[in-house]
Amino acid sequence: MPVQLVALMILLLSCTPGGCMYPSHHWGDWNDSQLLPTIQKLMKGYNRYLRPNFNEGPVEIGMSLDIASIDAISEINMDYTATIFLRQRWRDSRLVFPGNESISVDGRLVSLLWIPDTFIPDSKRSFLHDVTVENRLIRIFSNGTVLYALRITATIACNMDLTKYPMDRQVCTLQLESWGYNLQDVVFYWTRGNDSVKGLDTLRLAQYSVESYHTTVSEAVYETGKYPKLVLHFALRRNVLFFILETYVPSTLLVVLSWVSFWISQSSVPARTCIGVTTVLTMTTLMMGARTSLPNANCFIKAIDVYLGICFTFIFGALLEYACAHFYTMQHQTVEDLYRDLQREFNESNGNGSLPIVSTAQTKQSSKIGSTAEEPEEQTANSDTRNSAEPKEDTSKQGCGLSSVANASRRAASVFTVENPHNIDCHARTLFPMAFLFVNILYWLYYLFL
Ligand SMILES: *[C@@H]1O[C@H](CO)[C@@H](O)[C@H](O)[C@H]1NC(C)=O
Ligand SMILES: *[C@@H]1O[C@H](CO)[C@@H](O)[C@H](O)[C@H]1NC(C)=O
Ligand SMILES: *[C@@H]1O[C@H](CO)[C@@H](O)[C@H](O)[C@H]1NC(C)=O
Ligand SMILES: *[C@@H]1O[C@H](CO)[C@@H](O)[C@H](O)[C@H]1NC(C)=O
Repeated sequence: MPVQLVALMILLLSCTPGGCMYPSHHWGDWNDSQLLPTIQKLMKGYNRYLRPNFNEGPVEIGMSLDIASIDAISEINMDYTATIFLRQRWRDSRLVFPGNESISVDGRLVSLLWIPDTFIPDSKRSFLHDVTVENRLIRIFSNGTVLYALRITATIACNMDLTKYPMDRQVCTLQLESWGYNLQDVVFYWTRGNDSVKGLDTLRLAQYSVESYHTTVSEAVYETGKYPKLVLHFALRRNVLFFILETYVPSTLLVVLSWVSFWISQSSVPARTCIGVTTVLTMTTLMMGARTSLPNANCFIKAIDVYLGICFTFIFGALLEYACAHFYTMQHQTVEDLYRDLQREFNESNGNGSLPIVSTAQTKQSSKIGSTAEEPEEQTANSDTRNSAEPKEDTSKQGCGLSSVANASRRAASVFTVENPHNIDCHARTLFPMAFLFVNILYWLYYLFL
């Protein structure tokens, strides 16, 4: 039997559209009279420009796919590249030959037969593999069924919604349509329903896993008519672990690092500003790195942007917290210094005329500091050295009326001065982690379950 098949193929090879030339070889045990009728019947009067069932109903074309690989799923271009084995089968009654065998025909003989004009409407680029020969195959069964298989690599558009990136789920499609034959001529169907597509279950993708897939039959409506269309839908879920390790954990740790500042004494300005500024800068770098592989021209905000934004806000907040705490501490001390200056002024100029009034205010203020401040000794010890260092605004104000200055400073103190600036740090130590935890819970609830 194989000898006969080989003979058939060689005979078919020698056929040209102009006519068949039968080689005059001797076919071993098989003589020409046994082979010729099949070939003649196959090719005699065959018009490859006319579809099967030309005057009858539409020709039914069954399709099945093997997905060999899906790679280069690109968020920037919104497409994916897939290598597929596409199998189409239809019945061409003109090719019926006796027996129950099938003949596999060389791919180059495809040009002798009618084949469907299937195309992939969403493909941007596609090509047929041609190493070492064109990767296509025709098999003709004795009952006239033709199986036509191709290996194609195509880059296919897939509209992606990246608002939940990287916790996103993309549904991509692979569509097959007939280019020229409308529904009156050609009908498409999946040969085995949802099972017509193979290879998606075992596919290993770099960043995604195939969550589910199914097939549908539909029709494409154009101005020129309705065309048969088959669609494969498959859902890809991104593996979020990579992003957790690459972006989420580092940014969370950075936020935690920025809180370290709350436990460092306010007087160590370089340490705290250093932590603040370094964390802000590192966060900026992380944010830059996270968006390199993504289309950033689009207006939508991705989930990862939201998280990085939250982290940045917290880190920036920690820096601002120190700025505020430091400012209020300084102001606190300045007000205190002001009183001391005033007292000294009175001591110098009036002797002890109005001293008792100021001294009561001074003792009240200092007692308040003594009761709440953590380092009262240090402050009072430093205050004398600070007097010489920063008395400029105080000395400039000495020209004004002393009572008005005292009133203004008292009002300013009542409005701006926090009771105890060290409490800012104490509150921040609980407030920042609690707020971050709360925002995190909201964030993950929203993006994972909504
Ligand atoms: C071909 O084979 C058939 C049967 O096998 C035989 O009857 C016929 O005579 C053979 N023809 C030639 C030309 O040998
Ligand atoms: C083909 O037909 C022969 C007899 O007609 C039978 O013995 C053989 O099993 C059939 N082969 C197949 C694959 O059906
Ligand atoms: C034709 O034969 C093939 C192979 O034996 C079989 O799979 C197919 O169902 C047959 N088609 C029809 C229309 O009988
Ligand atoms: C294919 O799968 C989809 C979704 O799972 C389902 O709705 C549909 O009924 C299935 N079709 C067939 C023919 O099993």
